[in-house]
Amino acid sequence: MSEFVAVAKCTDIADPGSLLVEVDEQLIVLIHAAGQFYALDDVCTHDGGPLSDGEINGQEGTIACPRHGAKFGLASGDAVTMPATKPTGSHKVKVDGDQLLICLSQS
Ligand code: FES
Repeated sequence: MSEFVAVAKCTDIADPGSLLVEVDEQLIVLIHAAGQFYALDDVCTHDGGPLSDGEINGQEGTIACPRHGAKFGLASGDAVTMPATKPTGSHKVKVDGDQLLICLSQS
């Protein structure tokens, strides 16, 4: 059963910016963009690129894989441009005071 766990302070992540954390042996990229926080698996579904090194576009609500440029929706994890076609994992995020908490989705 997943539950929310504190993973960072909100002030640890610039806007736009990201922070790589490990939760339950999973690498998760926390993303701050346009005032919102998101949490995605740090894995591009095209060929495993590290999304934590990707470029964030707050207006589009996407992050681009640094390897071949596939973009993923920040909120959904959906692949929105080629060459990726499958979503990456996305996780619920909650702000409690200055703490950022996430709840890992079952995969
Ligand atoms: S590994 Fe991410 S686009 Fe190819």
